[in-house]
Amino acid sequence: MVVMDTQKLLCSVLCCFLLSILSGRQQAVQGHHHHVPSNIRPLKLFVFGDSYADTGNTNKTQVAWKYPYGINFPGKPAGRFSDGRVLTDYVAKFLGLKSPIPYEGWKSSSCGIPLLKSGVNFAYGGTGVFDTFFSGPNMTIQIDSLEHLLRDNAFTAKDLELSVSFVSLAGNDHFTYLRTNGSAHEGLQSFIRTVVNQLAINLKRIHGLGVKKIGVTGLEPWGSCLIPYITDTSSFQQCNDTYSSLVSFHNLLLKQAVEKLNNETKDSPFFIIDLYASFTSALKNEGSIKFENPPLKPCCLGVSSEYFCGSLDENGAKKYTICENPKSAFFWDVAHPSQEGWRAVYSALQANLEQYFHYY
Ligand SMILES: *[C@@H]1O[C@H](CO)[C@@H](O)[C@H](O)[C@H]1NC(C)=O
Ligand SMILES: *[C@@H]1O[C@H](CO)[C@@H](O)[C@H](O)[C@H]1NC(C)=O
Ligand SMILES: *[C@@H]1O[C@H](CO)[C@@H](O)[C@H](O)[C@H]1NC(C)=O
Ligand SMILES: *[C@@H]1O[C@H](CO)[C@@H](O)[C@H](O)[C@H]1NC(C)=O
Ligand SMILES: *[C@@H]1O[C@H](CO)[C@@H](O)[C@H](O)[C@H]1NC(C)=O
Repeated sequence: MVVMDTQKLLCSVLCCFLLSILSGRQQAVQGHHHHVPSNIRPLKLFVFGDSYADTGNTNKTQVAWKYPYGINFPGKPAGRFSDGRVLTDYVAKFLGLKSPIPYEGWKSSSCGIPLLKSGVNFAYGGTGVFDTFFSGPNMTIQIDSLEHLLRDNAFTAKDLELSVSFVSLAGNDHFTYLRTNGSAHEGLQSFIRTVVNQLAINLKRIHGLGVKKIGVTGLEPWGSCLIPYITDTSSFQQCNDTYSSLVSFHNLLLKQAVEKLNNETKDSPFFIIDLYASFTSALKNEGSIKFENPPLKPCCLGVSSEYFCGSLDENGAKKYTICENPKSAFFWDVAHPSQEGWRAVYSALQANLEQYFHYY
């Protein structure tokens, strides 16, 4: 009995030690260029959403845990849908925080509260506000998880008083709908309404739990370059415009919903993180970070439409190619920016973040 307990204790101490090293490694974003003065820095960051924000919540059967994901950071596959850092890491850097620990890894360890020091990342690749074609906890379930932590007193009211939230919705709901019903379906517009309504409910709920400032992504520009599952015209020369009206409609509704939420609340806690403008600016090479032509071509690409980045055939031979220099590509795979792509998006977003993520 004692022996078992000692073993258990030793194991959990060791696990926690390893986990803290690992998360420390994951969290280190070079430099300490805080844009928020440290005395008024938010204490915690709570992250919800999908693969644009996930830093390691999907289970290890998923592609983000396979080579060559993560090769540039943390140096091996570790659950980010990129060759390196994703937007969450840059938002955390902006706030002067370490990138918060992925909830799933934390939950399956027995490490307790200390590792939640900079907040928690609940974002799970492939998810949406509703259940999607991919599996994983939808945003409601992700918010439930924060609620459980609060019930277990993982955070105090004071923690929450200076907390902020980053919510990513890149379009898995829309993708799921289009895949089943097609773009011509008359229900598409009303479906987008239900997505934005549910998103607004979620934002309000996060605020209701005590989080003070909440940034939510608008949809990035879509096209054949981003969603080749929908259309197989993959010249990567230009985005297919078919879905641009879908994206504009979503972004318009989101803008109205956020305005309404702010009207109903003191201090205007909600704001939109404009991925449409920032992706567009980065892809047009407008910033200081330049991408090679054609900027829409992903660095890591399946050798044919049956394959995707990270696929192997039954003999274990790789069925994808990687570009020579991932820093030259905005997109890492067909759906996700590379680390350098995210860095360019972050750079285009700085003014946006400075305007809203300032503190009192
Ligand atoms: C979220 O997932 C849960 C569990 O699968 C499900 O019961 C619930 O209806 C989903 N919520 C939404 C808004 O789709
Ligand atoms: C891991 O994720 C896959 C795909 O989402 C799912 O089918 C599988 O059941 C999950 N496995 C575990 C152990 O959670
Ligand atoms: C397809 O459209 C129908 C009718 O509008 C809707 O009930 C269903 O949920 C849609 N499918 C998906 C996957 O959203
Ligand atoms: C764009 O996508 C739509 C829908 O899949 C397709 O019908 C159309 O041919 C594509 N256009 C171009 C220019 O690739
Ligand atoms: C928010 O309030 C402003 C000023 O009162 C008003 O002009 C605007 O129409 C409101 N917006 C929404 C979406 O309710």
